[in-house]
Amino acid sequence: METKITKDIDICAKIIRSGGVVAMPTETVYGLSASIYNEGAIKKIYEIKGRPSDNPLIVHISNICQLEELTRDIPPIAYELTQKYFPGPLTLIFKKSAKVPDIVTAGLDSVAIRMPNHKMALKFIKKCGTPLVAPSANLSSRPSPTKAGHVFDDLEGRISYILDGGDCQVGIESTVIDISGIEPIILRPGTICPDIRQVTGENHKIALAPGMKYKHYAPMASLTLFCGEPKNTANEILERLNKDIAVMCFTDFYDIFKANITYSYGKSDDYSEQAKNIFSALRYFDKQNVKEIYAQCPIETNLSSGICNRLKKASGFNIINID
Ligand code: TXA
Ligand code: MG
Repeated sequence: METKITKDIDICAKIIRSGGVVAMPTETVYGLSASIYNEGAIKKIYEIKGRPSDNPLIVHISNICQLEELTRDIPPIAYELTQKYFPGPLTLIFKKSAKVPDIVTAGLDSVAIRMPNHKMALKFIKKCGTPLVAPSANLSSRPSPTKAGHVFDDLEGRISYILDGGDCQVGIESTVIDISGIEPIILRPGTICPDIRQVTGENHKIALAPGMKYKHYAPMASLTLFCGEPKNTANEILERLNKDIAVMCFTDFYDIFKANITYSYGKSDDYSEQAKNIFSALRYFDKQNVKEIYAQCPIETNLSSGICNRLKKASGFNIINID
């Protein structure tokens, strides 16, 4: 199968309407989409990605009216959160309505809903005439794709079209919050965690989404994370470095590492720039065929928790803490 990269929304929507699968852009990462009502297409998504079948999918909507159709017992906090963050990099988990097929939710009684903040994505969903499932458009366990080219690298020959909406501006996947129970629970941190805490209060709980137990985001090389004050982690890496080790560093320290294979992924205090570049960095190292990567990880705060979460998982929790 030839895989084409296109900006033609009509061609891609036609494929979805006839029961196919298309990679689509969002502001977070690219997704591999299909109609929530087409079981055959959804099975294909699991197959193409090599995704475990007990890992439920996020339903992507283009209009807030679709929320009522797909859910039941909407709690008051949902109105506050959707008003503030839809469209945006936030996924909310509700009790599901009978309309949502079991294959979408992997048999759970809840459903994850998100409205992406991306013009082309919203237009595309609308043209498809149905909400779309869209897990990240990478092979399972690989870094998520933030460019059409990343999707091509993983899925060439497995899908017919990639809808090209440019580089993803957020760069890590949406924050997932379960609001189907008594208290809101953050299942996956993302870039809007700090603001969410203002709505849910500080006593929110953190748990794991079903998908978070699997190996994730792994580059081909072995990745060691250095966590702590940026100056200290830079010094520690410098002490341990040899010429064969690649470095993923903050832009502030690029000059001291540039003799090695180096990717600077944002200034040490610029978390949105870091989020945007994490997956590109990991995929860059794969292309350079490096065997070992040392990476600077920010100190974990509300603002950096999504970045730390992705980097820690990518390293398989191979972490060196520097005080
Ligand atoms: O930013 C994003 O969310 C991207 C873009 C494409 O929208 N999508 C994405 O999908 O990251 P995926 O499938 O890679 O991750 C979805 C996460 C998984 O960890 C899954 O377990 C969790 O959401 N999830 C989905 N439905 C759920 C449910 N009903 N209850 C609990 N967790 C759920
Ligand atoms: Mg994913």
